[in-house]
Amino acid sequence: MAAETHCKPHPDPNPSPNSRRPAKRTAPSGDCARERLKNDEMDRPDAPVALFRAWFAEAQAGELNDPNGMALATADANGLPDLRMVLMKEFDENGVVFYTNGESAKGRQLAENAQAAVLFHWKSLRRQIRLRGPVEWVSEAESDAYFASRPRDSRIGAWASQQSRPLEGRFALEKAVAAYAARYAVGEVPRPAYWHGYRVRPLYWEFWMDKPFRLHDRVTWRRDSLDAPFEMTRLYP
Ligand SMILES: Cc1cc2nc3c(=O)[nH]c(=O)nc-3n(C[C@H](O)[C@H](O)[C@H](O)COP(=O)(O)O)c2cc1C
Repeated sequence: MAAETHCKPHPDPNPSPNSRRPAKRTAPSGDCARERLKNDEMDRPDAPVALFRAWFAEAQAGELNDPNGMALATADANGLPDLRMVLMKEFDENGVVFYTNGESAKGRQLAENAQAAVLFHWKSLRRQIRLRGPVEWVSEAESDAYFASRPRDSRIGAWASQQSRPLEGRFALEKAVAAYAARYAVGEVPRPAYWHGYRVRPLYWEFWMDKPFRLHDRVTWRRDSLDAPFEMTRLYP
């Protein structure tokens, strides 16, 4: 879907006192977005991924920081939820990919309960996208390739950080960084076996966009299994 440049932002008839909306927007929104969720957009066979791609492209053009930042919800074996931000590094029809330390809290939770929910919120576009589904490890080759693309200091950091475990003080972390920098002073920094990518595979997508008077648009795509086709449903806001 091509980015539209002719659309104008719609005035907010119900502005929040906390809203610090800039007078001018840099990314198309409002009327543009309203046009996007017409039925013909939703019925296309490549939805919802094509719609995600289009919204993400707008977020990349318009968001100040980390348009690929997403809240990742996991739950432990007792069902207690947990939530944190991670960065999406890849997406396609198979789902969204993030990288982390598999021995972190989220890694341990995913080992016990390999399911997650993800939320993107693009504040300046006034849109959110949710997805839910099972989580799989990406291939070793994919993790290796992404790890190798990271700055050297980040690769050292992946060795030095025992993510989510107690740290006695900042100095202990600095010592660990220095030790691994010395160990890998020459040649490539290999990927630690515990550091890898996860792919959240969507059974459920929901696209939400702001509309006047809180009568927002919500469109969902749901399927019962990963090989089934998605069914689109509109929801009351
Ligand atoms: C914008 C943003 C992006 C982040 N991206 C990642 C990421 O891609 N991978 C990661 O392991 N932690 C990332 N973090 C840190 C996590 O939010 C979290 O603190 C860390 O992964 C430990 O989480 P856990 O204890 O639940 O495992 C990010 C934090 C922020 C605020």
